[in-house]
Amino acid sequence: MPIISTPDTVLDAALSAMERTPNPRLRELIASLTRHLHAFVKETALTEAEFERALDFIVAIGKATGDKKNEVVLAADILGVSTLVALLNNEQPGGESKAALLGPFWRANAPQCDAGENIARGDTPGTPVEVRGIVRDAQGRPVAGAIVDVWQASPIGLYENQDPTQPDMNLRGCFTTDPKGEYHLRTVVPAGYPVPTDGPCGELLRAQLRHPNRPAHLHFMVSAPGHKVLITQVFADDDENLESDPVFGVTRPLIGHFEMNAGRTAATLQYDFVLQPGETVFPKPPIP
Ligand code: BEZ
Ligand code: FE
Repeated sequence: MPIISTPDTVLDAALSAMERTPNPRLRELIASLTRHLHAFVKETALTEAEFERALDFIVAIGKATGDKKNEVVLAADILGVSTLVALLNNEQPGGESKAALLGPFWRANAPQCDAGENIARGDTPGTPVEVRGIVRDAQGRPVAGAIVDVWQASPIGLYENQDPTQPDMNLRGCFTTDPKGEYHLRTVVPAGYPVPTDGPCGELLRAQLRHPNRPAHLHFMVSAPGHKVLITQVFADDDENLESDPVFGVTRPLIGHFEMNAGRTAATLQYDFVLQPGETVFPKPPIP
């Protein structure tokens, strides 16, 4: 390792100290991250006070993370990094990706539901909606036995784990497609809601004059053996925040239409999914 003489020699020293890393991917990732971080420090002429502030932010997102909330995931989300990773890793041949970020509120082991079951349990308020669609493979063939895991915030804007008044696992459920690849569930029309603003990410959004409100959406994770797990969201086409989602989740193919009946007392949503061939790998749940 060369002895450091000027600021310009620090990067070489750091990179050469890492060269022995036996795992080639870890070597590549950390070397690249180090290069980019050094370039960032130089480009912005980062001051010591700013460096301290940045380290405090990282400590704070760790401290704000617990059973109810994953502020580290939220930080990646509001910087657009989660969406970038989702889109880059799920490019769809001949079309825009239908993947979206996972977000911090997916829980594993949601209740297994029968076709047509309502995931709005207890006294959940809201307009009833029937959601139906077909899961197909990349050749357009229906996928029977696919699992459609759905989750959403209540119409007051809170996931059940954030809200002691909701039953455990409210507005979460796993549905199985029938031999025609069809799924069918009942729930309530989702409402827009703010991402959590009580921690360091909220402070950052305020400092940037960004609003925290996500457009109304349902989350889906669709899986079947022999296919990549599709993690996505479907957004209401009439939401005013489609073009200013604080976590950049909205792409055109993910905008759906909640069709209201004449009296506006109930709605339907039709939304189909296409699975790509690959390994079925589930994400790590951001919260237990
Ligand atoms: C969500 O849609 O659940 C979500 C996504 C990113 C940040 C916060 C919430
Ligand atoms: Fe959400």
